Amino acid sequence: MKVPKHIAIIMDGNGRWAKAKGLPRTAGHKIGVEKVREIAIYANSIGVKCMTLYAFSTENWNRPEAEVNYLMSLPKIFFESYMKEIMKNNIRIMMIGDMDEIPDNARTVFKNAIEESKDNTGMILNFAVNYGGRREIVTAARKYAEDVKNGKINDIDEEGFKKYLYTSELPEVDLLIRTSYELRISNYLLYQLAYSEMVFTHTLWPDFKPSDLDLCIDEYNSRDRRFGGLNEEKTA
Ligand code: IPE
Ligand code: IPE
Ligand code: MG
Repeated sequence: MKVPKHIAIIMDGNGRWAKAKGLPRTAGHKIGVEKVREIAIYANSIGVKCMTLYAFSTENWNRPEAEVNYLMSLPKIFFESYMKEIMKNNIRIMMIGDMDEIPDNARTVFKNAIEESKDNTGMILNFAVNYGGRREIVTAARKYAEDVKNGKINDIDEEGFKKYLYTSELPEVDLLIRTSYELRISNYLLYQLAYSEMVFTHTLWPDFKPSDLDLCIDEYNSRDRRFGGLNEEKTA
């Protein structure tokens, strides 16, 4: 079985999970954080090199203020509870998104975790926070254009463009998983998802278990990735 190098996940369904149990939406987010720990440690143990988790989108600011505040308090809770274990497991923390707009305390805990884990050589656990694929592309295009204008660069091409994306140091996304069976990618990794395999699962994020990740990887292994070409054995 091939383990995907880079798995991206849209962790969705926290609110519905809570509602079904008669709990406030925040209760779903709280369990969701515990799931991040469980799934990250498991993914690292099976040899996944990078996992990018959609934690907060540029559109999630449109939610009620109390929910936004609660979501922004979670990084602190996550790293206070699990940073020791992350270090023990040799996991490296990274982050993508517009960091300038998130509250100071959340930004600080991320920066500290990124710094503390920067020499770890296991899986990269990459959080997409205040992330929007459209914003990422426009920001990259703006910086690229400035560098061309200033004479730093004279040619515009795909390889050059990629270096301006938040994901410049990360491998291509092999597998996208979205929980809660919403059949859309919302505003996630719009550039990076070209030729990624996609799995949409009915499971809500707070119910997602290592065995569910295994099922997604099994499904990934059943796919025929052609990247626009032809696979030899299929052409007779
Ligand atoms: C995903 O769960 C978490 C975030 C978007 C932050 P939701 O909060 O979107 O849960 P549903 O989709 O309302 O069930
Ligand atoms: C996508 O989920 C964003 C995150 C998981 C952080 P949403 O719940 O915000 O997406 P939509 O609104 O259903 O597309
Ligand atoms: Mg949702």
